Amino acid sequence: MQIDNQVLAAPLAGISDKAFRLIAKEMGAGAVYTEMISDKALVYRNQKTFELMDIQDEEGPIAVQIFGRDPEFLTPAARIMVERGAQWIDFNMGCPAPKVVKNGEGAALMKEPDVAYRAVEALVNAVDVPVTVKLRKGFDVSSVNVLSMAKTIQGLGVAAIAVHGRTRDQFYSGQADWQVIAEVVSRVDVPVIGNGDIWEPTDASRMLAETGCQAVMIGRGSFGNPWLIRQNLAVLAQEKPVFPTMEEKIAMALKHLRLAVHYKGERVGVREMRKQLSWYIKNGTGAARLRDEINQAEDEKTLIALLNAFLERQKG
Ligand SMILES: Cc1cc2nc3c(=O)[nH]c(=O)nc-3n(C[C@H](O)[C@H](O)[C@H](O)COP(=O)(O)O)c2cc1C
Repeated sequence: MQIDNQVLAAPLAGISDKAFRLIAKEMGAGAVYTEMISDKALVYRNQKTFELMDIQDEEGPIAVQIFGRDPEFLTPAARIMVERGAQWIDFNMGCPAPKVVKNGEGAALMKEPDVAYRAVEALVNAVDVPVTVKLRKGFDVSSVNVLSMAKTIQGLGVAAIAVHGRTRDQFYSGQADWQVIAEVVSRVDVPVIGNGDIWEPTDASRMLAETGCQAVMIGRGSFGNPWLIRQNLAVLAQEKPVFPTMEEKIAMALKHLRLAVHYKGERVGVREMRKQLSWYIKNGTGAARLRDEINQAEDEKTLIALLNAFLERQKG
């Protein structure tokens, strides 16, 4: 598995769709990930699920992320992914969402290592493309087991292991534990991708130095701020990070909207972009009011007008 550089854009359900990935790539991401994709939904040929893994016209490297637990579904689903162009499959063992965990999938697999190992083995055997795994620190504080799981999983033929330094019961709160990432790095021979709390331009370089991981993955820090990827790359290249002006933020928000509408149609694109547009304008004057207006807008034209008017107000 090849990545272009050490700063990757994380898999993000509801966010890392094609529009987001194209922007992350433009910002220099060393690899991008799709949203998590259900093995069962693929096997049952759910049309919406096929759209989630549409990576046509995208430049690699792209990890197509799968979740599930049962080899009976994971094997055919992974093969469908490869038939549809996947050149790298990532297995989700980190999703904390109750509806996923109650099915024994996502982070719940950290509670059942043997099931998890069989799942990883099934994926590795099902396809010829590289398979990677994304783990959490453990299921809860009393069962931190990422070290032993990573050690076993590396022996199953995975190409890399990503570690999010939080337990499932932390969801996304509290500080990510980079120490545990460092411990995984010191225990396994496959490349480790560190994940959790990259918020500042210097954070990737700090995580690489503090943990020894081979690459870092940026999640929430990139919401409405894809420049964070480029800024972290700049610091790694010992250059000064450049911060976007409000004009550039609005231009990117408009581009993101255009891409979303292009790939999903106006109705879905507009609805799904509401929260992301609000993130782009977060610190501007009158952002709260604009957010309310964005949430009521039903079409692309209205959103474009709102964003342009907002920009004018910033100048005045
Ligand atoms: C809204 C949202 C959606 C996410 N979706 C996924 C997903 O589909 N697959 C996955 O492995 N992780 C998912 N994650 C977890 C992120 O990939 C990442 O591990 C986590 O946000 C920690 O990184 P950060 O501190 O940089 O945000 C999601 C996180 C958030 C906030």
